[in-house]
Amino acid sequence: MENITALILAAGLGTRMKTNLPKVLHPIGGGTILGRVISNLRAAGVKNIVTVVGYKAELIEKHFKGVGKFVVQKELLGSGDAVLRGLDAVEGAEGGVLVTCGDTPLIEGETYRKLIEAYSKDKVSCALLTCDAKDPFAYGRIIRNAEGEVLKITEEKDLSGEEKKIQEINVGTYCFKKDELKKFIKKIEVNEKKKEFYLTDIVEILTCDNKKVLTLECDIEEALGINDRGDLVLANRIMNNKKIDQLLESGVTILSPETTVIDETAVIGKDTVILSNTVIEKDVTVGSNCRIGPFSRLRPGTKLADEVEVGNFVEINRTNVGSRTRVKHHTYLGDTTVGCDVNIGAGTITANYDGKDKHHTIIEDNVSIGVGVTLIAPVKIGAGAKIGAGSVVTKNKDVKPGETVIGVPAKPLHK
Ligand code: UD1
Ligand code: CA
Repeated sequence: MENITALILAAGLGTRMKTNLPKVLHPIGGGTILGRVISNLRAAGVKNIVTVVGYKAELIEKHFKGVGKFVVQKELLGSGDAVLRGLDAVEGAEGGVLVTCGDTPLIEGETYRKLIEAYSKDKVSCALLTCDAKDPFAYGRIIRNAEGEVLKITEEKDLSGEEKKIQEINVGTYCFKKDELKKFIKKIEVNEKKKEFYLTDIVEILTCDNKKVLTLECDIEEALGINDRGDLVLANRIMNNKKIDQLLESGVTILSPETTVIDETAVIGKDTVILSNTVIEKDVTVGSNCRIGPFSRLRPGTKLADEVEVGNFVEINRTNVGSRTRVKHHTYLGDTTVGCDVNIGAGTITANYDGKDKHHTIIEDNVSIGVGVTLIAPVKIGAGAKIGAGSVVTKNKDVKPGETVIGVPAKPLHK
């Protein structure tokens, strides 16, 4: 693949979001809008990334420290100006520049890859993503001649009555030859209605100079630009639905998809059943034949082996759980390693945080924990041990394998 630099435009105010936070730092899936744009570009094999920031630039830079370069666009003079500023940070005279918006997080890595491929293969001056939208309102439209060749892109505000009916929209993602982009971007004139330099005007400048512009169509669900809170809801819904469809396809039962939230990174084995109102977050692995929910929350870094049961109002965080273990009601397990065939009674809590540091709990195979038990970490419960209902096992007071303890603080039960 050609050495491509991606230029992400993320300086905008995000006015329509009505937010104090930069728009691109809003949450989507388990991350942020910009984070998803970056990871999708990485998935396409793009190594060099330059992000143009403006509004609360320092917050964005701090959040993505070490991720490529950042250029500050001091005055928000439009997407054309943003590209002009960003180009200063693109090294080397040769190669391609992929320009994308920081607010279109659903464009898949595979789509970026195809666009780069189309651009490189046909040696065009510009390859851009388009798609057919039922409701094209607010997007730039692709204007073509009678032969179907691209002439220009026109923004909503500048469309004539007839042009408003055009459903082919500009997704806001383009590949350009760097030297041409540098040359022609300077020819963009300010748009009188919005007093901004529109990057989209470069298409007409190129076609008037007989340069080749080609389009690549993508899925409408990928094109969504996040401009307001409603778009954010829609984007999260699209991602969640995609993930749930993939899981259903792979043999997972999800009984109430409309109340279930599953991060795209989660891995779930065959014949596992997920019940309503369950939330499965980033980097969670669930084995086969498990039963999760209703009302369960599996937080990042949790791994469940096969045939595990997790029930209502159970939260599991950075924890490994062995096969056939049951955690069925009102429990919190954090920073814990649980063995196989363990039964954890209702209301059991691992106290993993002492106000300063997090500590680990180990619960070995075949342990039986009664209801309402508190385990104060760091602590280890040996294989086959039993903890009586209502006990508090205090820190470093490990329970020996096979031992039965009870009380507050928990002590061995003398027969
Ligand atoms: C833009 C496109 C439109 C396309 C749509 C796709 C232009 C003129 N229009 O419209 O054709 O259909 O995206 O989602 O480009 N930005 C800066 N600096 C600025 C202005 C904007 O960095 O001075 C950034 C924004 O942060 C944003 C991106 O550029 O990420 C696009 O700007 P936005 O105002 O959202 O443009 P749209 O009206 O959505
Ligand atoms: Ca936008």
